[in-house]
Amino acid sequence: MFNLILFGPPGSGKGTQSEKLIAKYGLKHLSTGDLLRSEIAAKTPLGLEAKNIMDKGQLVPDEVVIGMISSALDANPTAKGFLFDGFPRTGAQAQALDNLLELKEASINVMLALDVSEKELVKRLLKRGETSGRSDDTNEHVIRARITEYHNKTAIVAEYYRQFNKVVLIKGEGSVDDIFAALSKEIDERNKE
Ligand code: AP5
Repeated sequence: MFNLILFGPPGSGKGTQSEKLIAKYGLKHLSTGDLLRSEIAAKTPLGLEAKNIMDKGQLVPDEVVIGMISSALDANPTAKGFLFDGFPRTGAQAQALDNLLELKEASINVMLALDVSEKELVKRLLKRGETSGRSDDTNEHVIRARITEYHNKTAIVAEYYRQFNKVVLIKGEGSVDDIFAALSKEIDERNKE
C-alpha cells in the first residue's frame, strides 16, 4: 500500500494536483473538504453544522473529520493506496491517521508539501471565487482567515511527519504540469515495488 499526504495552505494546488496524481497512480483520493461539501449539498445535520464553520474560514472539529476518514478507509478495503488531500490538518488528526493506518498494517509513505506565497494564494482563491460557487472563496477576509488557521493549527503537522523524515517540500508556483512532474518524481522514487 502506498499512502501519500498532499499538503499545503488553501489554494496551493492540492485539489488540482490530486486529480492528476490519482489518475496516474490509481490511488483513492480522500479530500475532507470534498467530503464536507458533499454533506453540505445533501443538507445533512453534519453538513449544516460544517457550513457555518467553513464559511468563517475555521477548521471543523477533529472528531468530525477523523470519523469521516475512518469510514472512508473502511469503505475501501481493496485500495492500493490513499492520497490524503486537506487531511490531516491538526496534530490530533495526524496522530489519529497514524493509528487508523496502523490497524491496517500500513503507514504514510511520504508527505509532499506545496510551497506557495500568501500573495499568490489569495490571488488564486479570489479568482476561483468568481466562478466556483464556493462561499469561502468569495471574501478576502475569509480567505485570509483560512490561511491564518493553516499557520496556527496546520503547519505543525509537517513538523510531526518531519521527525520521521517523511516530508518533501515542492515549489507550488509555476505551471500545473511542471509541479505535477516534480510531485511524480518524488513518488516514483519511493513507490518502487
Ligand atoms: P478544503 O476543501 O480542504 O480547501 P483548502 O485547503 O482551503 O484548499 P482549496 O481547495 O481551496 O485549495 P487547494 O490547495 O486544493 O488548491 P486548488 O487545487 O483547489 O477545505 C475547505 C474547508 O473545509 C476548510 O477551511 C475547513 O473549514 C474544512 N476542512 C476541510 N478539511 C478539514 C480538516 N481536515 N479538518 C478541519 N476542517 C477541514 O487550487 C486553487 C486555485 O488555484 C484553483 O482555481 C486552481 O485552478 C488554481 N491553481 C492550481 N494550481 C495552480 C498553478 N500552478 N498556477 C496557477 N493557478 C493554480
